[in-house]
Amino acid sequence: MPTYREFHRRSLADREAFWREQAALIDWHRPYEQVLDYSRPPFARWFVGGQTNLCHNALDRHLGVRAEQQALVWISTEVNQTRSFTYGELHAEVNRAAAMMQSLGVKRGDRVIIYMPMVPEAAFAILACARLGAIHSVVFGGFAASSLAARIDDARPALMITADGGSRMGKPVLYKSLVDESLKIARHPPRKVLIFRRGLDENMPVVADRDVDWATLAKDFNGASVACAWLESNEPSYILFTSGTTGRPKGVQRDVGGYAVALASSMKHIFCGEPGETMFTTSDIGWVVGHSYIIYAPLLAGMTTIMYEGVPIRPDAGIWWKIVEDYKVSVMFSAPTAIRVLKKHDLSYVRKHDLSTLKHLFLAGEPLDEPTHQWISESLGRPVIDHYWQTETGWPLLSAHPGVEQTPIKMGSPSFPVYGYDVRLLHEQTGKPVADGEKGVVAIAPPLPPGCMSTVWGDDERFVNTYFRDFKDQLIYSTFDWGIRDKDGYYYILGRTDDVINVAGHRLGTREIEEAVSMHPNVAECAVVGVADQLKGQLPLAFAVLKDAGKRTSAEDVMQTVDRQLGAIARPKAVHFVTLLPKTRSGKTLRRAIQALAEGRDPGDLTTIEDPTALTQIKEALRT
Ligand code: PRX
Repeated sequence: MPTYREFHRRSLADREAFWREQAALIDWHRPYEQVLDYSRPPFARWFVGGQTNLCHNALDRHLGVRAEQQALVWISTEVNQTRSFTYGELHAEVNRAAAMMQSLGVKRGDRVIIYMPMVPEAAFAILACARLGAIHSVVFGGFAASSLAARIDDARPALMITADGGSRMGKPVLYKSLVDESLKIARHPPRKVLIFRRGLDENMPVVADRDVDWATLAKDFNGASVACAWLESNEPSYILFTSGTTGRPKGVQRDVGGYAVALASSMKHIFCGEPGETMFTTSDIGWVVGHSYIIYAPLLAGMTTIMYEGVPIRPDAGIWWKIVEDYKVSVMFSAPTAIRVLKKHDLSYVRKHDLSTLKHLFLAGEPLDEPTHQWISESLGRPVIDHYWQTETGWPLLSAHPGVEQTPIKMGSPSFPVYGYDVRLLHEQTGKPVADGEKGVVAIAPPLPPGCMSTVWGDDERFVNTYFRDFKDQLIYSTFDWGIRDKDGYYYILGRTDDVINVAGHRLGTREIEEAVSMHPNVAECAVVGVADQLKGQLPLAFAVLKDAGKRTSAEDVMQTVDRQLGAIARPKAVHFVTLLPKTRSGKTLRRAIQALAEGRDPGDLTTIEDPTALTQIKEALRT
C-alpha cells in the first residue's frame, strides 16, 4: 500500500494513469478515448467518448451477485414505518418509475424537478432519471414557493415529482400545495406533476390534466423494463442549486462518468465501504451529501444504504445508534450540528448500543469544533473523521484517507488534500502561496478532478466568472473558504470569505435572505449577517430600515415574509429596526462590521464609513 502522501502525489504527477485505474471501478458501455480533455480551461472533460450510466452502475451491474441483498432500507420515525428493497426490488421499482416518467413525456436531456420528502419514491425518481438520461434537479423540501419557482424557471422542467406531504417532529408538512403555489408564480411550469400520496394531506387539491397520481400510474407499469440510456461521460446527470454571493442561486451541473468514478473511488479510499456492508448517511436527498452519499456512492459500491426520515432525538436521542446496531452499519456520515444536538443528551443513549460494526463516523458540511469532535470520538470509541467539501466538488476535497493510510486525526482539522485536488492556500490579494500557519484562501489549481461541477447550468460564463480567479497568468478555483495549514500539513477551515452562511449545515446566501426580507412591503432596505450560534453553527440576523416608521411592523411580520419567500430554514433569529445601515462612502454595506459587533468582536477598520451613527444604532439594537 502506498502512503497517503505518495497516493496524493501520484494523482497529480501521473494524473491520467491514476484516473484510468480509478475508472476501472465502474462499468463502461463504451470505453473512453481520452482520460482528460483540458483544451478549454477551466472546463475539464473527463473520460471523453466513454459511455456509461449511473443507474446501471448503481443497480443493474450488481444484480448477478446482489439481487437478494438489501439495497435500500427506509426508516421513518415520523410515520413509524420501515420499508426495505433488495437490489432486485429496487431495480424493479426504478424501472417502473422510469416507464411512468416516459409515459409522461420525459426524454433524455429533459429536466425533472424532484421536490419530495425523504421517502423511497424520491430515490426511485432520482435513479429513474439517471436511467433515462433525464437531468434531475432535487430541491430541498425546506424551501418556500418562490425559491422553488426560481429553480423551476432556471431548470425549465418537463416534469415535477412531489408528494402530498412530509412530516417533521410528527407534524405534517405540506409539499403538494406548496408546489401549486410555486407553479402559479413560475414562468416555465412543467406540463405534468406526478404526486406520491402518503395520506398526509387529505385535502390535497388536484389540478385536472396536469396532476398525475403515482400509485394509479404505477399500476399500468408493473414489471416494466426500461433500457439504460448510454450517455457520453460528460453529459449532464443533474443540477443542484446552491447559494452564493448573489441573490440568485446557481445550478451546479454535474457530469455522469467523472462523478461515478469519483464516488466509487471515494468509497474505497476515504469511506472504506465494502460491498455487502451498510452505510448510513443522515443528510437529506435535497443536499449534495444526500445525492452523493445516500443515493449514488453506497449503491455504486454494492452496499446497503439507509434513508432516514426523522430527527436524531425522536423517539429518543439513541435512535441513530439503534439503527447502527440493528442494521450493522459500518460507515456513517453526519453533520456537526446533529452531533452538537446529541451532545446535550445523556451518554447512555450512545453507550447502550452495540456499535462494534461501525468503522468510522464521517462529519462534514460545517466547521467541527474541537469539543464536539472530542466528545463524539470518546463517546463512540471510533475514529471520527472531519472532512471538507462543497456542493461544487460533489465529493471530499480535504479528508483523512483511511482506505489508503491510517494517519493520526487532529481535532478541528479535516486533515489533508484529497487525491486529484491540487489544493493551494493563497494570499487573497496577491494570489501568492501563504506560509504554514498563515491564513489564506483555499483554492484549487485546475483542472478540477472528476466528480466536480462541470459548469453552471446554462451559463458557462457565470461558472468561470464566479469560481475562477485570474492570478497573474494562472486560473485558480476559489472555494470561498479561509484556511490555514500547520507544519505537519493538516488543514483547518476558518469560515467563508464571501457572504455565505451555514445554518445547521444548510448553506444560505445572506443576499438571498436580504432579498426575502425586502419583500416585506414596509422594508426599505436591510442587511443580513450570520452570527455564531452554539448549536447551529450560525444563524441569520437582520437589520431593517422601514419605509414608513409610523406604520406598525413587527419583527415577526418580517420573519414570516422570509418563511414565505425562502423557507423557515432562512428565518432570522431576530430582526432589528434601525433608521440607517452602516455603509462605506461608496454605498457598500459594512456587513463584516455588523457581524463583528453582533458576535461581540472589534468591528475593525471603519475609516470608510459614511455615517458612524449607523454603528451606534446597531450597537443599541443589539443591546435590546
Ligand atoms: O464553508 C464550507 C462549509 O460548507 C461549505 C459547503 O457547503 P455545501 O455546498 O452545502 O456542501 C456541503 C458538503 C459537505 C464549504 O464551502 N464546510 C463544509 N465542510 C466543512 C465546512 N467547513 C468546515 N469544515 C468542514 N468539514
